[in-house]
This record gives sequence, C-alpha cells and structure tokens, in this order.
Amino acid sequence: MRSSILVFAVLYMLMPAGAQKATIHQVPIKRTSWASGQQMYREYCAVCHGEHGAGGGPAARACIVKPADLTILAKNNSGKFPYNRFYAVMRFGSLMSTPAHGSADMPVWLPLFSSLNSDREAIAEQRMHNLADYVASLQESNRRGVRSAAVVPEP
Ligand code: HEC
Repeated sequence: MRSSILVFAVLYMLMPAGAQKATIHQVPIKRTSWASGQQMYREYCAVCHGEHGAGGGPAARACIVKPADLTILAKNNSGKFPYNRFYAVMRFGSLMSTPAHGSADMPVWLPLFSSLNSDREAIAEQRMHNLADYVASLQESNRRGVRSAAVVPEP
C-alpha cells in the first residue's frame, strides 16, 4: 500500500556520500510540538530552505530543483502571504513539479504530519496552520520588527 509507505517513510536527511557529493535519504519523521511552527520549521524545512527561509540549507545542493526562497512568498503575491498556496503545497506537494512525475525534492507534508499524532486530521491541520504562520513571519517584509514565534506547550 503506497499511501502507508508514504506516511512512514518520511523526512529527508543529508548524508555525506563522498567528499563533494551529497545525497538525500528519507528517514522516519521526528515528532515535534504541533504548537510550535518554529520547531517544525527547523526540524522539517530548514535542511533545504535554510534556517531563515531564504534557501541554502545543507540539503539544497542535493536537490535537483533549487528549494524556493520562502521569504519572498508575500512579495510575490502583492505583499500578502499566500496562505492558500502554502496550504496547497503542504497538501499536494510542490505546484511547480509535474504531477505525473511527482516531486523529486519537495515532500508532501500533510500526510506526514497526519502520522505524528493519534488525533490525526485535526492536529495535522493545526500543524500546517502554525507552520504557515511561522513561514509568514519569515517574510523579508517583516524582517525589521522580527516577530519570534511563541512556543506554546502541548496540552
Ligand atoms: C528535501 C528538500 C526540501 C524540504 C525538506 C522542504 N522543501 Fe519546500 N521545496 C523544496 C524545493 C526543491 C522546492 C521548489 C521546487 C519545486 O517546487 O519543486 C520547494 C518549494 C516549496 C514551496 C513552494 C514555494 C512557492 O513558490 O510557492 C513551499 C511553500 C515550501 N517548499 C515549503 C516547505 C515547508 C513549509 C517545508 C517544511 C515542512 C519544506 N518546504 C521542506 C525542497 C524542500
């Protein structure tokens, strides 16, 4: 069953394979607090999109397509953070890749989030919203008054 494999074979990790080359391996997704967009971002996204969202994470050079600069999503959308587009990418994968080929580099996150908690759908949705808010806070337009995401303890 392909869908259950996708749920468990998850996060990408950088493995040094020789001095110059880096390859990406899938490893099981690590649990994070669903309440902290920042923690999720650091655990799941920074490896490709970079710590501050502008790209250049350690796994970026192993990607066929360069990871998107997540700090200019608002700038590219008339100054407003494109929540709907973000949710679509989390739900269906990158909008840029050819669906028939799947996305080689960008995981589809929502099913992976669903594997993390027993109350799957509701918490996975909440994860996605908190992550969206965190990525929205990384927009270059916000950089002056840097908003740090609050870490709310899990109930
Ligand atoms: C293995 C590397 C990798 C990881 C990990 C990764 N991404 Fe990506 N992401 C990419 C690549 C490559 C692209 C751009 C190419 C493409 O669209 O296929 C992309 C594109 C995106 C886009 C689309 C940007 C646009 O222009 O609309 C969003 C949003 C995004 N990523 C968010 C995330 C979030 C949030 C996480 C963590 C939950 C994450 N990514 C983790 C590689 C990655």
